[in-house]
Amino acid sequence: SWMKRCLLLLFLIAVSLPVAVKLPALIQHLVYTYRIRLPYFADLNRPAEFSLNHTINMYLTTEEGISLGVWHTVPDSRWKEAQGKDLAWYQSTLSDGSPVFIYFHGNTQTRGAPHRVGVAKVLSALGYHVVVPDYRGFGDSTGEPTEGGLTVDALYVYNWVKARSGDSLVIFWGHSLGTAVSTNTAVKLIEQGVVVDGVILEGAFNSARQKIPGHAFSWYYWRFPGQEYLFPEPWAENKLVFPTEENLKKMKSPILFLHSEDDHLVPPHVCEQMRDIAASYQSEERVKLVMFEGSLGYLHNGLYRDHRLPGILK
Ligand SMILES: *[C@@H]1O[C@H](CO)[C@@H](O)[C@H](O)[C@H]1NC(C)=O
Repeated sequence: SWMKRCLLLLFLIAVSLPVAVKLPALIQHLVYTYRIRLPYFADLNRPAEFSLNHTINMYLTTEEGISLGVWHTVPDSRWKEAQGKDLAWYQSTLSDGSPVFIYFHGNTQTRGAPHRVGVAKVLSALGYHVVVPDYRGFGDSTGEPTEGGLTVDALYVYNWVKARSGDSLVIFWGHSLGTAVSTNTAVKLIEQGVVVDGVILEGAFNSARQKIPGHAFSWYYWRFPGQEYLFPEPWAENKLVFPTEENLKKMKSPILFLHSEDDHLVPPHVCEQMRDIAASYQSEERVKLVMFEGSLGYLHNGLYRDHRLPGILK
C-alpha cells in the first residue's frame, strides 16, 4: 500500500504539472468567472422573460470582432407604449430628457442576474433609462475579457448613448468589478476632456493588487494556496490593475458610494477610505457615501432592495 500511495502521488504530480504551467491563463478565467451564465435557461434575447417588459435587447460592435449584448430599459411610465416597439423607437426615447444610467456589472453571470434586474427596476421606476451591457466574453457577448478590453467596451457604450441622448444626464452605476470599469472609463474620458455627469459606485474595491482580508479577489488566494509564492505578481502578469484609488484622484464627476456594512467581499472601511480620498481631491459636497446597516443583510449584492434607495438617488 506504500507503493500504491507513491504511485498515486506520482500520478497526481504528473496530472497537475501541466495545469500548474497553464495557471496564468487559468487565473484569467477564474478572476472573471464570466463563464458562469446563470440562469442559463433564460434567453438574454428576451428581456421580458426576466420581467423587464419595457426593455429591448441589442448588439453593439465595440471593435472588430467584438459584439456586446446590451439591454435598454425605458422609464417605467412608458412600459405600455413600449410594447412591440423596435430598436429605432427605443433609441429615439434616449433623448426624451430623462437621465440615462449605464450599469456596469460585477464579475459573475450576465445582465440578467436578479440583483442587476433589481437595480434596473429601481431606476426605471424613478423615470430613468437604464442601459446594461455584458462586457466582452460575458453573457452572449463575444471575445475574451481583459482590463483594457472592458474599458474599450464601456467607452463605446458611453459614446453610443451620448450620441443619442441629447442634453440628458448620463450617469455610470458600477457594481463590484463594474466600479473599477466605471472609474477606468471616467478617467479615460477625462483625458479626452469629458466629465461624466455622475458616477455611482456600489460595493467598490480599491485595486486588484490589494490583499486585505475579505478582499474581492482574496478567494483566489485561498483557492490556490501557494499561488502567492509561485506567482507573486499574478495581477501584473494578467495586466489586471484596476487602480480605482488612483482613478478617484483624477475624476471630476460627482461620486456616490453605496456600500453595506456587512459586505462580505469588500469591508466598509475600504469604501470609507476611498470616499475620503475622492473627497480630498474634489470636495465633501461632490463625494457622498451611503452606508447601509449590516443588520439588513444586503451583503455585496443586495442593497437595491432598500426602500430608501429611490430617495437617495433622487
Ligand atoms: C410591465 O412592467 C411594468 C413596469 O415594471 C409593470 O408595471 C406592469 O405591470 C408590467 N405589465 C405586465 C403586463 O407584465
